[in-house]
Amino acid sequence: MKEKLLSLKELAMSSLKDCANSAHLEEFRLKYLSKKGELTSVLKSLKDVAPELRPAMGQLANEIKNTLQKEFNEFQDKLKKADIAKQLNEGGLDVTLPVANDMPGHLHPITQIQREIEDIFRGMGFMVFDGPQVEDEFHNFTALNIPDWHPARDSQDTFWLNDGNLLRSHTSSVQIRAMQQFTPPLRGIAPGRVFRNEAIDASHEACFYQVEGLYIDKNISVGNLIHTMKVMLREIFKKDVEVRLRPGFFPFVEPGFELDISCLICKGKGCSVCKQSGWVELCPCGLVHPNVLKHCNIDPDIWSGFAFGLGMDRLVMMRYGIDDIRHFHSGDLRFIRQF
Ligand code: PHE
Repeated sequence: MKEKLLSLKELAMSSLKDCANSAHLEEFRLKYLSKKGELTSVLKSLKDVAPELRPAMGQLANEIKNTLQKEFNEFQDKLKKADIAKQLNEGGLDVTLPVANDMPGHLHPITQIQREIEDIFRGMGFMVFDGPQVEDEFHNFTALNIPDWHPARDSQDTFWLNDGNLLRSHTSSVQIRAMQQFTPPLRGIAPGRVFRNEAIDASHEACFYQVEGLYIDKNISVGNLIHTMKVMLREIFKKDVEVRLRPGFFPFVEPGFELDISCLICKGKGCSVCKQSGWVELCPCGLVHPNVLKHCNIDPDIWSGFAFGLGMDRLVMMRYGIDDIRHFHSGDLRFIRQF
């Protein structure tokens, strides 16, 4: 049987080389690779081979089948390319025609929500800021009222680079850049990728997505903050969402809050997502600390403002009931194709 298989392989390879067009190729496929082909019929006689030889013969036959299939595919590709080249030369192929798009791609769910958020805030007169992902200490920490001795630096497990710079641990660095660049009144959001050297689990990734929001004007209060957040949430979830504020500490805001929303999964009744509390922590926020304004040459006696930092991954997870943040960048198409 071994000889039979090997000679079949040789024969097949040489007849493949003789194929000159797609009709020949199809003949080849039928003769050697199809269910009624010669290889299959050799395989059928496997049952007559001595049992101890069967596994080795089966393996050999499969190897030959794979090799032939691979060669066939390559040859088919080559023929196709030659055909296109020929058509191009003869002017019979219109390369400006739209391609058949039977597997169109789409935007990642995080990009989708980012664009929605940008639209919502543009509608409220906010600019959209961009900033570098490799930041310096000043913008990521010092200007945000986090001097180098401050323990808050440790709470954000920062990736430091050899040159003393860092991968930004939050998009708050962009609020500093915005205040340096523009004079108040000023409103804007800064969406983007942030990095923390965290232990990775279902709700923590080393790279995730935030939107920082900033509003500087005269007489800005917590009321403006709550209203803005409610409008945004209503637009995203297409219904009124209840919010509550709890005190929270961030060196760059005073007072600082954690903004919770009523759990959309159980409608506030208590479930595993909200840990039976009926509330889900969504967004740290607060009124911009006077020291931060001063770092950006803005007079805190005239101007005040609010800032918030929204986790976009978390928002997408809430919207679709996704229970593991690691899915987002797993590269698993079965996950990504659902959106
Ligand atoms: N930058 C903070 C963080 O990532 C979030 C935040 C932004 C808090 C703005 C308050 C105001 O943890």
